[in-house]
Amino acid sequence: PVVKREDYAAPAFLVDSVDLCFDLDPAKTRVLNKMRLRRNPAVAAQPLRLDGEDLNLARVLVNGEGSSFKLEGKQLVLEKLPEGEEPFELEIFTTCAPAKNSKLMGLYVSQGTFFTQCEAEGFRRITYFLDRPDVMASYQVTLRADKAAYPVLLSNGNLVEQGDLDDGRHYARWVDPHKKPCYLFALVAGQLVAREQRIRSRSGGEHLLQVYVRPGDLDKTEHAMNSLMASIAWDEARFGLPLDLERFMIVATSDFNMGAMENKGLNIFNTKYVLANPATATDADYAGIESVVGHEYFHNWTGNRVTCRDWFQLSLKEGLTVFRDQEFSMDMAGSVSARAVKRIEDVRVLRSAQFPEDAGPMAHPVRPDQYAEINNFYTVTIYEKGSEVVRMQQTLVGREGFARGMKLYFERHDGQAVTCDDFAQAIADANPDSELARLLPQFKRWYSQAGTPRLHASGYFDAEARRYTLTLGQSCPATPGQPSKKAFVIPVALGLLDAQGREIEGSARTVVLSETSQTVVFEGIDAAPVPSILRGFSAPVILEHDSSDAELLTLLAHDSDPFNRWEAGQRLALRRALAAVQSADAVHQPLDAAYLDAMRAILRAPELDAAFKELVLTLPGEGYIAEQLDEVDPQRIHAVREAMREQLAHALQEDWIQAFEAHQDNGAFRPDPVSSGRRALAGLALNMLCLAARENGNPVWPGKALQRFKDAGNMTDRVNALSALVGSGSALAQPALERFHALFKGEELVLDKWFALQAGAPDRGGNILPLVKQLMQHPDFHLRNPNRARSLIFSYCNANPGAFHRVDAAGYRFWSERVLEIDAFNPQVAARLARALDRWKKLAEPYRSAAREAIARVAAKADLSNDVREVVTRALAD
Ligand code: ARG
Ligand code: ZN
Repeated sequence: PVVKREDYAAPAFLVDSVDLCFDLDPAKTRVLNKMRLRRNPAVAAQPLRLDGEDLNLARVLVNGEGSSFKLEGKQLVLEKLPEGEEPFELEIFTTCAPAKNSKLMGLYVSQGTFFTQCEAEGFRRITYFLDRPDVMASYQVTLRADKAAYPVLLSNGNLVEQGDLDDGRHYARWVDPHKKPCYLFALVAGQLVAREQRIRSRSGGEHLLQVYVRPGDLDKTEHAMNSLMASIAWDEARFGLPLDLERFMIVATSDFNMGAMENKGLNIFNTKYVLANPATATDADYAGIESVVGHEYFHNWTGNRVTCRDWFQLSLKEGLTVFRDQEFSMDMAGSVSARAVKRIEDVRVLRSAQFPEDAGPMAHPVRPDQYAEINNFYTVTIYEKGSEVVRMQQTLVGREGFARGMKLYFERHDGQAVTCDDFAQAIADANPDSELARLLPQFKRWYSQAGTPRLHASGYFDAEARRYTLTLGQSCPATPGQPSKKAFVIPVALGLLDAQGREIEGSARTVVLSETSQTVVFEGIDAAPVPSILRGFSAPVILEHDSSDAELLTLLAHDSDPFNRWEAGQRLALRRALAAVQSADAVHQPLDAAYLDAMRAILRAPELDAAFKELVLTLPGEGYIAEQLDEVDPQRIHAVREAMREQLAHALQEDWIQAFEAHQDNGAFRPDPVSSGRRALAGLALNMLCLAARENGNPVWPGKALQRFKDAGNMTDRVNALSALVGSGSALAQPALERFHALFKGEELVLDKWFALQAGAPDRGGNILPLVKQLMQHPDFHLRNPNRARSLIFSYCNANPGAFHRVDAAGYRFWSERVLEIDAFNPQVAARLARALDRWKKLAEPYRSAAREAIARVAAKADLSNDVREVVTRALAD
């Protein structure tokens, strides 16, 4: 059942208003849905087809009278509706079973509380409806439930009435002042408490902000509330977009398929992105909360006020909103260096997750042309590459020009359901003299063509003419269904350094590459320069440039662009990793003195921030190394990277000691960029020192790590110390793990870390798989809880290649069993896990054949979900 973008047709009916009444009961919830509909005058008359799934239909009334209907597949079809353009009433009464809803789509129960998740197509699991984003209606909602069990009753918009009913029940009535598509509907009912904050926004409006959590979690809501207030202030200041609601609520749940959901005025969040205090959450958790709270809040304009015409346009809201949350985090970070750190982290995600997606069987354009299951398209391509496509538009029109474009976008489309074309058109129209406007149709190939473009660069210095010529070219490999690609518009930020590493004045510029090949000429150059290309990662491409080690060392030491400084270090390391992986010899000391000296210099450089040093001194990941190769032996890559880490650990030992000592005391915990950077560098240093101790058997550093683990004043230091012990295979790791578990018994999110740390540990003699199997039997392991399943199963299958790819294929067998097991109750989570073997065709034997067999085993199951079916079918296609 494939859905195609080209088949889009406007809805035959429009829904003006929806009046929903819920009698909430976990076993059997009754839903009375009264709609006012009318025929869409722009579309030829036809029957009304409403979507529904797992519903029990009890009654259908049209204008108060019984009406004939039929069920075709999952759709409810009404043929004999009033003719003409007059609105009519449609009343549908259904029941559903929230307690049995293990898919966590639609209405479900988590720890005794009702939650909903409607995006993309969950509303049809609540009532029959035109479940598509271009049908926008006004909603009023009545919730009725037992008052003792469900004291808090929430839905979108404003609370207009509440009171008691007979039999210990009560009710609440909510009216949403904004029209919305049904995927933004939400309700929550249960025993919750809220942190509250009243604010007055710049525009003068008064608002009530609430963060709802389970009783006992209130002390973990301060950061989420602060992040929400900062988001509101930022969107007003940067884009002039105010909060348009009297009340804005965030509710946390432990059972959630994804990160969070931007339901109008009632965001529902995975607890992972709400709950934090210094004792339980790491710096990374704090940063994740800030960016996801921002992300969901920013959707209020980019997604909710202007939404998507159809789900092929998903990146219209997701790419744009990721761009906005990335900019928000950068603006919050403040300093140039902290902004660069955030940029590097974002690029790392893009390159380690999106580039492989773009090169594998699930490759799809930022605006896909077809899908079997839309849930499979909430991808790093739609989100992160989509964000890069928006970022390039900002680069091409400038920051102010982009703000102008956003303004025009809202002037044109507020209240509408639109397309990616509409967005790019608005940005271009607001900047008629820009390169974006000039090249718009070509630029939009970023939306239609999948695959990661290659940017080829080569320089030629003519000493006599004092001229440097840089030739830039582009190409893009084929992807499924797209054998050949047309040229992209690629903004290439660049500059030249002289041999001493000083920026050559006037050389910095942004070249807009739109041809297959273009040259850039620099006159008056005295000596062969060092080009710094793709500064700030100005386009989501793979730069192919034969720079010498000497050039890379110059860039690493001197480039004015921090991103390219970091990138030069990564290239130097990657080059060595690839040489060692591809050599026929046993793995032995892949790093040379030049590289180690450069790393030592970075570690010692007084002017560099700790956060930046930590990034430079972290080697490229195993997955990223694998992507550079045509044939991948995951064991060999793992061995090489481990050997590199050990070498770094030994060679820089004195400096690691220095770094640890100098950054270990950071005062009272605050998750700001400076102190989190210091903790990160101290953590890496400790890791390195324990690794070095592994060889020489010196117990001093493992002992110090254990001590730090015990005395740590915050979770970041504690987890870093624990992972130093686990990662170095120290004998002290086991008792520390046991202590950690005892210390955090009731803390779900901390237990997730405990599982993840063990499943992600370096494999020594095949010990991880048996451990993972054993941990599945642990009383705290719950496969049905997505966070817990991810912490153990995904940490092993998706994030620990050295342990997962086993010569005996036992890792793959485990994978196929878990995919099938999870698919039986939660297809969305199963389909994510199914993607662990996306890149099987690149594997060397014996991995390749074994992986193919494992995928075929999954595909052979007759009653697979659509979700998993699509993933394995694509994986096996040639
Ligand atoms: N719109 C949400 C976000 O980006 C993600 C919801 C995805 N839900 C799903 N079932 N695929 O924040
Ligand atoms: Zn989003």
